[in-house]
Amino acid sequence: MSSSSFSPSFLLFFFFFFLSINGQDLIYDTCKTSSQQDANVKLQFCTTSLQAAPASRCADLEGLGMMSIRLTRYNITDTRCYIKHLLKNNTKKLDPYVKSCLKDCFELYSDAILGIKQAMRSYNFKRFLDANVQISSVMDATTTCEDGFKQKKGVVSPLTKKNDATFQLSAITLTIMNIIQNSLK
Ligand SMILES: *[C@@H]1O[C@H](CO)[C@@H](O)[C@H](O)[C@H]1NC(C)=O
Ligand SMILES: *[C@@H]1O[C@H](CO)[C@@H](O)[C@H](O)[C@H]1NC(C)=O
Repeated sequence: MSSSSFSPSFLLFFFFFFLSINGQDLIYDTCKTSSQQDANVKLQFCTTSLQAAPASRCADLEGLGMMSIRLTRYNITDTRCYIKHLLKNNTKKLDPYVKSCLKDCFELYSDAILGIKQAMRSYNFKRFLDANVQISSVMDATTTCEDGFKQKKGVVSPLTKKNDATFQLSAITLTIMNIIQNSLK
């Protein structure tokens, strides 16, 4: 059991990982790892998102982690605002089922804002286990929101892309924290 955690590919991974920190593209390598760990994470999405963050090219891994949490937070805030507008703009036109789903999603995203703020604090204090739990609950919120729309045939979620973006950004943060934690062992 314990030998499997030190499998050659594992060690090889860290060898190349640390090699590349001294070398070039930390963002690319981090995103590569993340997309390998979680099939929901698209390499292109990850690199584009992190590269767009200010000064991310000069950041170390811990800095990148903070940036991805921040991006997640903006995403959540933005999505919550979007849902609010959807509910406001289309009160009459909205299908009652869709409307009730949107209301659920609004609650989920409201809680997710609190969750990601807590995760930010945890991360700052290097309490990675706490941050892990808090970010995982954010990911659960996005899937619960999306699943609501799937419960009824013919209903199309207006939030698929946004749920997906928040999920991916969260997963990227989890990967970064995993790498940091493993390197501390
Ligand atoms: C979420 O973040 C991604 C990457 O930073 C960005 O492309 C997308 O527009 C954001 N979506 C929302 C709803 O904020
Ligand atoms: C809601 O309506 C405002 C004003 O008509 C518009 O600017 C905005 O894009 C709409 N938002 C959504 C989510 O439909």
